[in-house]
Amino acid sequence: MIVPESAPLGAVDDDREAAWAAAEAAGRVDEGFRARFDEQFPRLHALFQRLYADRPDGRDALAQTIALASGSWNARPLDLKVRDGVRTGDPDWFQSERMLGGVCYVDRYGGNLAGIRDQIPYFRELGLTYLHLMPLFAGPEGDNDGGYAVSSYRRVDPSLGTIAQLTELAADLRLAGISLVLDFIFNHTSNEHEWAQKAVAGDPDFEDFYLIFPDRTMPDAYEQTTREIFPDDHPGSFVQLEDGRWIWSTFYHFQWDLNYANPWVFRAMAGEMLFLANLGVDVLRMDAVAFIWKQLGTACESLPEAHLLLQAFNAVLAMAAPGLVFKSEAIVHPDEVVSYLSPEECRLSYNPLQMALTWEALATRDARLLQQALDRRHALPPGTAWVNYVRSHDDIGWTFADEDAAELGIDGYGHRRFLNDFYVGRHEGTFARGVPFQENPRTGDARVAGTTASLAGIEAGDPGGEDRVVLAHALALSTGGVPLLYLGDEVAQLNDPTFADDPVRRGDSRWVHRGQRPRDRYADRDDPTTTPGRIFRRLTKLISVRQTTPEFAGNALLPFHTPHASVVGYQRPLEDDSDAAPHGTRVLVLGNVGDAPIAIDPLTLSGFARIARDLLHDVDLDLDEGLSLSAHGFVWLRVTPLA
Ligand code: GLC
Repeated sequence: MIVPESAPLGAVDDDREAAWAAAEAAGRVDEGFRARFDEQFPRLHALFQRLYADRPDGRDALAQTIALASGSWNARPLDLKVRDGVRTGDPDWFQSERMLGGVCYVDRYGGNLAGIRDQIPYFRELGLTYLHLMPLFAGPEGDNDGGYAVSSYRRVDPSLGTIAQLTELAADLRLAGISLVLDFIFNHTSNEHEWAQKAVAGDPDFEDFYLIFPDRTMPDAYEQTTREIFPDDHPGSFVQLEDGRWIWSTFYHFQWDLNYANPWVFRAMAGEMLFLANLGVDVLRMDAVAFIWKQLGTACESLPEAHLLLQAFNAVLAMAAPGLVFKSEAIVHPDEVVSYLSPEECRLSYNPLQMALTWEALATRDARLLQQALDRRHALPPGTAWVNYVRSHDDIGWTFADEDAAELGIDGYGHRRFLNDFYVGRHEGTFARGVPFQENPRTGDARVAGTTASLAGIEAGDPGGEDRVVLAHALALSTGGVPLLYLGDEVAQLNDPTFADDPVRRGDSRWVHRGQRPRDRYADRDDPTTTPGRIFRRLTKLISVRQTTPEFAGNALLPFHTPHASVVGYQRPLEDDSDAAPHGTRVLVLGNVGDAPIAIDPLTLSGFARIARDLLHDVDLDLDEGLSLSAHGFVWLRVTPLA
């Protein structure tokens, strides 16, 4: 193991020399790496200065990180180096209108890695270009938070397969035009991770890998300002070890937070990250980014150092695996969500605001909050994109900004309560069949779990259910970035209440929406007399139209307002001069979240040339006749703005 010598960070030139010497000592260094080192080192050094200036061993930790990066580059397979070249030459590759993501659990969807490989023909049929496999590494037996408690990144969970199979799968996906997305769970490890075991045993190299305190003094002080994330599991942010000490555990008691104030933790996790990169991963989903830095007296979420750390990981990646990109998973206040998006941090981020407000609009039949978010909070820095989704493997939390809601006369606290009641089926007349997740009686906080079909009304037999499922996807597929489908939703998979019979899963209601691949529903997918068949036909139609609509590439979005509260509207202009679409056109999207049809009058549409193309039905429409939107209906129209 590393024996840190004591040398603090110093002048950039001196430290560069030490780092380069360490890289050369670790093996051959090629010109490509040298060039990227020259470019990235000053940046990484400056970040280390800000993070680790007071560490007596800062210089050594940095030098050892560089040595790791150069060793990893040397070991990087040639085909991945070629891919690096392609991706860095086209850094906006993920902005294409052809992008479509899918996400699934390996065991639940395919049984194991071989079973996922067997699904590649189906993924191609669907049009996937991006596949997020949920965590598949070794973790504790029994409950491991669906793989989010990792005991080793170097071993695949044996029930799913091997590292060799994973590498082969990545290569097969690449051939099929599908980028592999894996989680980089870097905020915490499982309590069974070798580092965790050594830390608890008092191994001096690992003691400071986690945040362990002898008594409640410091935990009590921190908990004055931290939030409870999994209150069903344990109160506060700490759990007690068998020997009576306390360890930081933001999530489950078996997930122990790493201590990034220790630069050797950064170095060690950079090693795990580069190991994943060399397996053939294209996108790393940066799990729980908001929590990685702690400071007394703060919420310990989204602190400035969390950004510095992401930038530092990004700089290491840029040296040793330059084709990869990070996707941020920050389910926090919208101002914070967007703060992780930049080419220097994460190029991709979940868009939890649009997701939650889509559901909010469907419940209230009022699209104004969603419209406000699209108008104001959709824009992103160049070179970055949203991942837009209808639901994920996680719960739905109502992460809109209270100040935004207040402008519309909505009280955030009361509104969240209403939405929770509505989606867990407690509100009279609700169409939703969700279940509560982490309901906290002390704070009144809760989140919602359920599949798209069950939340949208299909399970309840609501007549609007199917249309809502399609409308929600029509929005996610047309606002830009990478649309991400939860596999199974395309055949209207319903909730799986049997999770409650499983002793391992019963305590985590998110399993209600993580059922097994629904074979019977997939078998019906070509039968339009069935719900799965209708949903599949309608969603695949949307996907194929998106693929051939260049206005849907990128992120540019212009508001479009109608006088109707239940209607959300926006225009997608062409972002570049590509001549794939007629010059000067835009795609106008109008969606009606209400239960009644809406007539859009010609005056509202008078800014456009009279003839518009209905992309879904492939017919021309005369806008002088106005438009009608059915209940939960929408249009994708190619329009020409009048000068
Ligand atoms: C992320 C994951 C979630 C997990 C948590 C802890 O939020 O999406 O499923 O429970 O991190 O790793």
